[in-house]
Amino acid sequence: MLFLMQFLHKVQQTMEILDLLHRRRSNKKFGEIAPSAEQVENMIKAALRAPDHGKMKPYHFVVIEKSGMSKLRECLAAAAVEFNMDEKNAAKADKLSSQAPMVIGIVAKIDHESPKVPAWEQIVSAGCATYAMQLAANAQGFETVWISKKWVDGTLLRETFGCRVGDKVIGLLLVGSPKEDEGISLAREAEATEGFVSVIR
Ligand SMILES: Cc1cc2nc3c(=O)[nH]c(=O)nc-3n(C[C@H](O)[C@H](O)[C@H](O)COP(=O)(O)O)c2cc1C
Repeated sequence: MLFLMQFLHKVQQTMEILDLLHRRRSNKKFGEIAPSAEQVENMIKAALRAPDHGKMKPYHFVVIEKSGMSKLRECLAAAAVEFNMDEKNAAKADKLSSQAPMVIGIVAKIDHESPKVPAWEQIVSAGCATYAMQLAANAQGFETVWISKKWVDGTLLRETFGCRVGDKVIGLLLVGSPKEDEGISLAREAEATEGFVSVIR
């Protein structure tokens, strides 16, 4: 009986996990609540279990919230000037630091000299880590969106994130509570897989 109950509990958990994987979506609108330190820790733990050739953990995360947002704003404003952005993009850069209660900067810390793991594999690992963070945030009831754009290459932003010469800022992950009371928004249904798969048997 105990075994059956444990089995049924596992099946239910699997269904919940699959439902999130199948219907996850991004959202650019956020409420005011940021994940707690414990919830952020859960996200980072998920990131650190991303597939990682050579166990290089080729990434670093910069968690920005509260008064840290003014530094982010300064970095993005500097990037808008540095890259001569038009008014529309400069305004977007300015809005970003007030769009969500938390932003996590993701830096791919690339070892360009690695004889075994090329740079592209390290960047993919950092991308997987970012996606794992998104899912862990969703699983804890938070909305996310992954933003990049030219401003991730801004000199002041790179300096602030502690980038070395060959590193690459691959994204700014906006995270926060859902705007609506109903919880995070999910896609209505899973994607149709037709046309994306071929099988060799
Ligand atoms: C590396 C990367 C960079 C992205 N940069 C941007 C961006 O700068 N602006 C943007 O609107 N969406 C960007 N996206 C896409 C969004 O994160 C999101 O996936 C997209 O809006 C589609 O929504 P969905 O995740 O619900 O399918 C980026 C995605 C990735 C993987």
